[in-house]
Amino acid sequence: MSSIRPAAVLVLAAGEGTRMKSATPKVLHEICGRSLLGHVVTAARELSPEHLVVVVGHGREAVTAHLAEIDPEARTAVQERQNGTGHAARVALAALAGDGGGVFGTVLVVCGDTPLLTAATLGRLAAAHTADGNAVTVLTAEVPDATGYGRIVRDSGGAVTAIVEHRDATREQLALREINSGVFAFDGKLLAEALTRIGTDNSQGEEYLTDVLGVLRAQGHRVGACRAGDHREIAGINNRVQLAEARRLLNDRLLESAMLAGVTVVDPATTWIDVTVTYEPDAVIHPGTQLLGATHLGAGAEVGPGSRLTDTAVGAGATVLNAVTDQARIGPGAAVGPYAYLRRGTVLGGKAKAGTYVEMKNAVIGEGTKVPHLSYVGDATIGDHTNIGAATVFVNYDGEHKHHTTIGSHCRTGSDNMFVAPVTVGDGAYTAAGSVITRDVPPGSLAVARGQQRNIEGWVARKRPDSPAARAAEEARRAAGNEAGKGSSAD
Ligand code: UD1
Ligand code: CA
Repeated sequence: MSSIRPAAVLVLAAGEGTRMKSATPKVLHEICGRSLLGHVVTAARELSPEHLVVVVGHGREAVTAHLAEIDPEARTAVQERQNGTGHAARVALAALAGDGGGVFGTVLVVCGDTPLLTAATLGRLAAAHTADGNAVTVLTAEVPDATGYGRIVRDSGGAVTAIVEHRDATREQLALREINSGVFAFDGKLLAEALTRIGTDNSQGEEYLTDVLGVLRAQGHRVGACRAGDHREIAGINNRVQLAEARRLLNDRLLESAMLAGVTVVDPATTWIDVTVTYEPDAVIHPGTQLLGATHLGAGAEVGPGSRLTDTAVGAGATVLNAVTDQARIGPGAAVGPYAYLRRGTVLGGKAKAGTYVEMKNAVIGEGTKVPHLSYVGDATIGDHTNIGAATVFVNYDGEHKHHTTIGSHCRTGSDNMFVAPVTVGDGAYTAAGSVITRDVPPGSLAVARGQQRNIEGWVARKRPDSPAARAAEEARRAAGNEAGKGSSAD
């Protein structure tokens, strides 16, 4: 592919996308963790073009800002009014020419709303264009329903003579199934020249890029076509139904690669992954799971069912059940869930556990340390092989500031503890159930921080006479008396 490095790729993305019915510009809608524009730009970048220009118009501030984030090298050309695809291409070339001189070599034109277009197909188009010595090569596809697309008109010898827009087509032309994908390879110099000759004599009164084919052909240049292998690849997104269809297709592609790389996907229909997700062989994904962002699954890791992992690294052999995680690192062999929430900055050591109804945030948990039940661990460091009792809260917030709690290794903390930060518990220390720990606990000691128990005998009989409780107590006392009587007689 490197031999056919394009001089430029022009991405047309100035259109409004009204059918999305959205406050967000169409090309900024996302599928599989990347904007529509991002998918197109990523595919284009794989061909290493010298220049990449995105034509922006509607929502251009948002689109330009987004582009600066995802591809700072790309440049934008502003199309003030959307006078058609030909006009958009002219605006892009003018921006490049403004740098001095025209664009010589192959210029690819793509649309910003075709996220399924692959670099391989773009590369094939560019290669065919060069091999055939064409002035222009259009990427075409046979589609089941050609409504709305420009039709590819060929002569009796099969040579492409024109592209006719749906609205401008005759009845015979409407019957044609081969359509214009909107993706082209041009000779840059000839394109620039031909764009000065196209008119606006069509039903929309716009400058059509497609009219360049007729101009070049009339000048005696070679006009060619290259068919896309899969027509679904060139589908443009116009509404949210098509957005969902594209997401489904791309997700299927991603899952297929994962499965071929050795990942078990139990239910592809309910498993969703982003393009940026990575994995190792023998990872298993159970139903109802979303893997987002830079999430990574180590070898043999099991995730799901019912989990959403964002930017999370799951170590080899770890299990994550019914969990929501965000920017967390889960060590090898660690166990998460069922029903856990690991937030930003959670780091679980090897074989550690964040069990049922456990929430963690900014918490570093040592190797083999377990937080099994009903707990919140926020802003904490816990050493190795420590066990945190059920229903423990790391009280990290004084209403104004967050504070840190440190617990050592080989500790056994009781159930229903409050660790009021900042506080430190030394290695090998114990704490009693129900303790509110406000002062540091030295290594190896037992901390007890709760009221002494007091039993007030006969309180129910005095204060709640004839209540069910009083009767139950009376019954229990009588039974105990009988038992005692029996016991003494048997002796
Ligand atoms: C265009 C093609 C049609 C093809 C179809 C494929 C033309 C005249 N028609 O039709 O043959 O089958 O794409 O999807 O080219 N854009 C601009 N500025 C403009 C107009 C459009 O940047 O002034 C951008 C749009 O944002 C979009 C792309 O160009 O990304 C295509 O424009 P659109 O209006 O969707 O063209 P279609 O009518 O679909
Ligand atoms: Ca379109």
